[in-house]
Amino acid sequence: AFDIGKLRDQSGYVTLDSGYKNTGATKSAITFLDGEEGILRYRGYPIEQLAEHSNFMEVAYLLIYGKLPTQQEITDFNSQISRHTLVHEDMRKIFDGFPSSAHPMGILSSLVSALTAFYPESLDPNQSEEEMNLNIKRLIAKISTIAAWSYKNSVGHPVNYPKNKLDYVSNFLHMMFAFPTEDYDINPVVVNALNKLLILHADHEQNCSTSTVRMVGSANASLYSSVSAGICALWGPLHGGANQEVIEMLEEIKADGGNTDKWLAKAKDKNDPFRLMGFGHRVYKNFDPRAKIIKKAADDVLSALGIDDPILEIAKKLEEAALTDPYFVERKLYPNVDFYSGIIYRAIGIPTDMFTVMFAMGRLPGWIAQWKELRENKEPIGRPRQIYVGETERNYTPISERA
Ligand code: ACO
Repeated sequence: AFDIGKLRDQSGYVTLDSGYKNTGATKSAITFLDGEEGILRYRGYPIEQLAEHSNFMEVAYLLIYGKLPTQQEITDFNSQISRHTLVHEDMRKIFDGFPSSAHPMGILSSLVSALTAFYPESLDPNQSEEEMNLNIKRLIAKISTIAAWSYKNSVGHPVNYPKNKLDYVSNFLHMMFAFPTEDYDINPVVVNALNKLLILHADHEQNCSTSTVRMVGSANASLYSSVSAGICALWGPLHGGANQEVIEMLEEIKADGGNTDKWLAKAKDKNDPFRLMGFGHRVYKNFDPRAKIIKKAADDVLSALGIDDPILEIAKKLEEAALTDPYFVERKLYPNVDFYSGIIYRAIGIPTDMFTVMFAMGRLPGWIAQWKELRENKEPIGRPRQIYVGETERNYTPISERA
C-alpha cells in the first residue's frame, strides 16, 4: 500500500505510507535483517552463532560499541555494570505507591522514566562520551533490579537486593526468586536459556518500539526518557505484548480440549477479530530465524528440566497445521519470536505478566545502540508529514446557532 498524495497548502508532494511499510527512517550499521530470506545479523554476526556461543552481556557490548569485546573490555564492562545494580532507596519507595495488581510493564516504564529525576545530568544533550557511557551502564544495571522488584511488588514480597558477585542473568534470577529466608539455587540450564532468549530479543532494527526510542531521542530527549517511551510501545499486544497473549491463547485452547483446527478456523474468519498470536510479522515473509532457535531451545530446556508441558504440544500442532494451510501460506504467516518464548519463560518460573518485561530487558541493548547511533550521527528531529483529509475552512458559529 504505497500512495502519493499532494499537500493542499504547500507546493511539492508528500509520500503517504501508513504504518511506514516501505519507508526508511534512518541509515543504521547495527542490525541487518532480510525478511524474505529469514536472515538476522547483529553488527554482521549471524544470530544463530551469537545464540549458540555468546552471552547477553557480550551481545550488549557488541550492539552498543560495534565490536566483540576483548577479555579485558568485557571484564571491565561487567564490573562497571555490577557497580550500578542498586537503585536509589527513594526510588524503591515509588514501588510502594503502586497497587499489587499493577502490570509490571507500567511500573517498568515509570521507573525508567523516573531515572531522569535521580540522574538529571542525563538530560544534558551535550553530555560527554564518558557521561553517556555512565548513563548506558546505569540503565543496563538498574533495569534488571527494577524488573525483578516490579515482580516482587506484584506478589507482595520484600525485594531482594542485587548480589554483585553473580553474573547479570544469575543476579536477575536471584532478585526474582530468592526469599529472605532461603537462597535461590542458580541452575545453569536456566541461566543458559535466559541468556539465549535475551540475545534473540536484543535488537531488530526499526521495529515499533525502536522507532519510538529514536523518534523521542531525536528531540534530544534523554536516554532514560527515550527508552521509557520504547517500553510503552513494546507493551502493545501487536508488538512485545504478544508473548503474554500467546501463552494465554495456548492455555485457552488447552482448556477448550486442544482443538487446534477450531482455533485456526477462528483466526481465518474475517468476521472474528481473533488472530493467531505469535504468528505473522511485518518484515519476515519467511520463517523468523529467532523462532527456529527458540523452538529448539524450548525442547531442550523442557527436557533438561524434566517438564512435560502440554501447551508445547499444542503450539507444535498449531504450527504444523498453519504451515500447510492455504490462508497462512498465501499470506506468508509463520511463527514469530514470541510463539515459543513464553513456553520457555514459563518452564523457568517467570510469571506470564512478566513476559513482556523480559522482552524489554532483552531489547534494551538494541534501544541503547540505536539511541547512541542517532546521537552520534546527529540525526535531525523526526517529524513526519500527513495528507490532510479534514474540513476545508469554516466560520465559527455561536453555540445558540448550532444544530
Ligand atoms: N492470524 C490471522 N491472520 C493474520 C495474522 C494472524 N496472526 N497476522 C496477519 N494476518 C492476516 C491479516 O488478517 C491480513 O489478512 P488480509 O490480507 O486478508 O486482510 C494479512 O494477514 C496481513 O496482515 P497485516 O495485519 O496487514 O500484516 P502486518 O504486517 O500489518 O502485521 C503483525 C504484522 C501485527 C505482526 C500481524 O501479523 C499480527 O497481528 N500478528 C499477531 C500478533 C503478534 O504475534 N505480534 C508479534 C509480532 S513480532 C514482535 O513484535 C516481536
